[in-house]
Amino acid sequence: MTTFGYAQSVGYDRRATRLLGSLYRRIAADVDTATTHAATVVDIGTGPGKLLSTLATRRPDLRLLGIDLSPHMIEIAHRNLDGHPAELAVADVTDLPHPDASIDLAVSSLSMHEWPDLAAATRELHRILRPGGALAIYDFRFTGAKTIQQALRTQFGTVDTGTVRLPWHPAAVIARYRATA
Ligand SMILES: C[S@@+](CC[C@H](N)C(=O)[O-])C[C@H]1O[C@@H](n2cnc3c(N)ncnc32)[C@H](O)[C@@H]1O
Repeated sequence: MTTFGYAQSVGYDRRATRLLGSLYRRIAADVDTATTHAATVVDIGTGPGKLLSTLATRRPDLRLLGIDLSPHMIEIAHRNLDGHPAELAVADVTDLPHPDASIDLAVSSLSMHEWPDLAAATRELHRILRPGGALAIYDFRFTGAKTIQQALRTQFGTVDTGTVRLPWHPAAVIARYRATA
């Protein structure tokens, strides 16, 4: 399995800062409506932690967790979070460090298309969510969308699907999938 190396992680951090601010703000607004005060939220495949940084500023009441397969990404995420007490760990989505039923909302952006074993990943996401907890996935609309949808349906049943438009792209290139444990 390939992970983001050091140079790739630094390059992605720069590009994410430049291009994806509106996506993180949109996801953070969705997190607002999906969570109550002091909820526990985990960002799966957090990369350089830009979504967590946005959430840390906007929702200081949340307990924020993040995991990523790449230790370089986790190192950059620590720097970007600038002292915020988010709990970050190097982990694979198929083997998460979180206890059963401990998470109110699991969110993931632009990562799921990279997960090789979607059945194992969705099983693990279901395990960490409390009953009634929410899953919100944002990923490229034209990369593996059918496979992603199918894996989510198999594990979670009903999946609500929508799209997200980035201001600098004429087409809605991001798909959003929501499900409940
Ligand atoms: C394109 S980046 C997206 C990062 C961030 N979520 C964002 O929206 O900017 C994809 C991230 O998913 C991580 N990733 C890929 N496969 C993973 C897996 N099996 N478990 C955990 N993280 C994974 C990569 O290391 C990378 O940091």
